[in-house]
Amino acid sequence: MAPPPEFCQPPIKPFEVAIVGGGISGLTLALHLLIHRVPTKLYEQAPRFGEIGAGVAFGPNSAKALSLISPHICKAFEDAETNNLAETKKSVWFDFRYGDTCDGRRPDGGLICTLECDGGQRAVRRSAFLDGLVKLLPSGVAEFGKRVESFTQDRDGVTLCFQDGSTAKHDVVVGCDGVKSRIRKCLLGEDDAASTPTFSGKYAYRGLIPMQQAAAELGPELAGNSQMYLGRHGHVLTFPISQGDTMNVVAFGSANAWDSAQWVKPVAKKDVINEYSHWGHSVRRIIDMIQQPDVWALFDHPPATTYYDGLVSIMGDAAHASTPHKGGGAGMAVEDAYILGNLLGAISDKSHIQGALAAYDATRRARTQRLVVDSREQGMLFDLELGFDDPDQLASNISQRMKWLWDYDITNELEEAYSLLKVHCAPLAVST
Ligand SMILES: Cc1cc2nc3c(=O)[nH]c(=O)nc-3n(C[C@H](O)[C@H](O)[C@H](O)COP(=O)(O)OP(=O)(O)OC[C@H]3O[C@@H](n4cnc5c(N)ncnc54)[C@H](O)[C@@H]3O)c2cc1C
Ligand SMILES: *[C@@H]1O[C@H](CO)[C@@H](O)[C@H](O)[C@H]1NC(C)=O
Repeated sequence: MAPPPEFCQPPIKPFEVAIVGGGISGLTLALHLLIHRVPTKLYEQAPRFGEIGAGVAFGPNSAKALSLISPHICKAFEDAETNNLAETKKSVWFDFRYGDTCDGRRPDGGLICTLECDGGQRAVRRSAFLDGLVKLLPSGVAEFGKRVESFTQDRDGVTLCFQDGSTAKHDVVVGCDGVKSRIRKCLLGEDDAASTPTFSGKYAYRGLIPMQQAAAELGPELAGNSQMYLGRHGHVLTFPISQGDTMNVVAFGSANAWDSAQWVKPVAKKDVINEYSHWGHSVRRIIDMIQQPDVWALFDHPPATTYYDGLVSIMGDAAHASTPHKGGGAGMAVEDAYILGNLLGAISDKSHIQGALAAYDATRRARTQRLVVDSREQGMLFDLELGFDDPDQLASNISQRMKWLWDYDITNELEEAYSLLKVHCAPLAVST
């Protein structure tokens, strides 16, 4: 089926954008630019689109940004999403429980609090959502097997240098190449400490359990609706994916350092079982059911002092990779694509590109870097490392700290970005 007409109109802008990386960031930005009729090229290192099938969840701010970009993009998400199975749990983000009795001082599985939000838990398999986005992209926009190594730029544009020895020149480049971004490295400089991701002190085991088995063991209420079990130096969360056919498990743990060059690797099930052996029965029976677990080291970025230089910019994980404790990384990428796509869509002159990148940087940097810092803190909160011994205080902190992320009016941010754009690009008019 051909993509909807809004993505296929003939381009009209006198400049071409090159996007490096075809994950959630790169694809959403490409689609948004096509709506604004900006000539767009996307380079992806892999031989085809595709990603591991891990679950990713979207909060209210993420869903809002998706729908503001395009109802088709919103639908791609809705077609792939899974919610809590019980009708009474549709607006629940997580039920927070004690998973570790803390030497008998806490009830095993005891409820700490329930946090609700608009839409509740909305999870997709990343691969399913990406498939939906790829279907919207007209053929010819993406080129595969193109790994960018570096770039050079002059007043006239940016030259990308690929691993295969080829080069390509474009008017502006946006690095959407993820946490290990080459564009970030070249933009900030190899010796800038912020150009290298840091180990966050946390890792995660990930596993999938057939829902039938999970429901038989835990009961349909706990298996079919999102749960988060807190403990000392770790926490375990579960939520339904694949329209309720599968229960996704993520079990977090702490380490001082990550010595392996591999960030994702298979682990022996008995080692995971052993690690959670001092936890309560509620968590141990979940861990027991995981087949073929992987471990993921969680890295994030020290704050970059800028998200652009000249005609090159970074967004998504390339700009602000964070730990997953607020479930906010992918949503921030979509917000970035909303702001940057609108700014580049508002200008009609090549000489205004730098002004658009400057306005994007000025409006996005503080909010996205706040996510990185707050997400680390939230991980420590869930791992009972912040000293909330009183369950009521713990519940109150958990209930308050998602507000700044979720209750956000990004259309105000866009207005602010347009004002900055007009200042940067004066006296020539920009059409917003
Ligand atoms: C364990 C875990 C759980 C998470 N859970 C959540 C969650 O629940 N909710 C949420 O919102 N976020 C979550 N996130 C974060 C979320 O996955 C990311 O924020 C999001 O996927 C970032 O998308 P991206 O497109 O910026 O980067 P990526 O998805 O990393 O995509 C980068 C793309 O660029 C390509 N690429 C890389 N280098 C080059 C190069 N040099 N040249 C060409 N192409 C290149 C890659 O092949 C890839 O396709 C989680 C992250 C982790 C690690
Ligand atoms: C939660 O607790 C942390 C650590 O004490 C504190 O920094 C943060 O401000 C608190 N947040 C809320 C919303 O109460």
